[in-house]
Amino acid sequence: MNFSNKLVSWYQNNKRDLPWRNTVNPYHIWLSEIILQQTRVLQGQPYYLAFLKVFPTIEDLANAPEDKVLKMWQGLGYYSRARNLHFTAKDIVNNFGGEFPKDYNKVLKLKGIGVYTAAAITSFAFDMPYAVVDGNVIRVLSRVFGVSIPFDTSAGKKEFQYLSQELLIEKEAAIYNQAIMEFGAIQCKPKSPNCSSCPMQDFCIAYTTNSVAELPVKSKKIKVKDRFIHYLFIEQEGDVFLGKRKSGIWTGLYEFPFLEFQIKLDEKQVMQSDEWSRIFLNSTFEVKSVSSEFIHILSHQKIHAQFWQIKATDLVLEKYELISKNSLFEFPVSRLTEKYFETIELT
Ligand code: ADE
Repeated sequence: MNFSNKLVSWYQNNKRDLPWRNTVNPYHIWLSEIILQQTRVLQGQPYYLAFLKVFPTIEDLANAPEDKVLKMWQGLGYYSRARNLHFTAKDIVNNFGGEFPKDYNKVLKLKGIGVYTAAAITSFAFDMPYAVVDGNVIRVLSRVFGVSIPFDTSAGKKEFQYLSQELLIEKEAAIYNQAIMEFGAIQCKPKSPNCSSCPMQDFCIAYTTNSVAELPVKSKKIKVKDRFIHYLFIEQEGDVFLGKRKSGIWTGLYEFPFLEFQIKLDEKQVMQSDEWSRIFLNSTFEVKSVSSEFIHILSHQKIHAQFWQIKATDLVLEKYELISKNSLFEFPVSRLTEKYFETIELT
């Protein structure tokens, strides 16, 4: 048996039973693939099920308000995924009669859908012959075939796409694609792969040359930036200041007014800063407490956040609304803010 047939045979004996594998509904498949892009299966599965309960059809999603869509996504991160999902649901309902196009190039043109997701949707839903390339696939191919070209370069991307397409069993595109991703996820894992029980052992180049830990190769190291953010939970007559973000990864989510610094400052330094004065100038306020530091890691940044509980009486903040404290938990917020909410009681 060749690599591809061995892979499919391994899959049939080892696959996990996952809800999106028992459907050819392109809406369900699309949703699962967007969730799984930056989220592990274990974490993503409950979101997938809850999302489909609330939005059972693409029309339901298209007709929902954005706040509700973001609230369902809360905690998953990478919120542009949810905003694009919502945008594209409306696009499909308005311009494709509510039917997912059965055409790879049309699928690829939809907002939020790149080459990986287009291949996943068209192969899983319509059994069309497009090979998927994700992190799992890259790891499997680089090890089995000894491909050491860095996968995050344009030449590397081309190479892995080409190899993946060559190995695809065209008549069984859906099962082949599922198989190679599953193999990467549970057999050929990033750390401590199960080489001793691997069906590819005899011809896996990484295994036979003792270079499993060296493959795949990445060229760039991500630079992580430290950010120091002080969120101000300001209460005024039973209301709290909250604003909706207009940019960045948390666009559309709600947040407290905040101060940001390049370095770590203690409480006294924060209160002596110009930024602080700009907010509290001429107003009466009392700092009730300051939380300890919450560390929130994102792909390119490490956020050091502290939450200040403040009581004010006559504060006016232009870009923020005063919302009732009792409705605070209904707004979609970042996972960081949610973690803070888990530590407080609204009394
Ligand atoms: N990761 C990305 N897509 C997946 C899928 N369809 N099944 C399991 N893990 C995945």
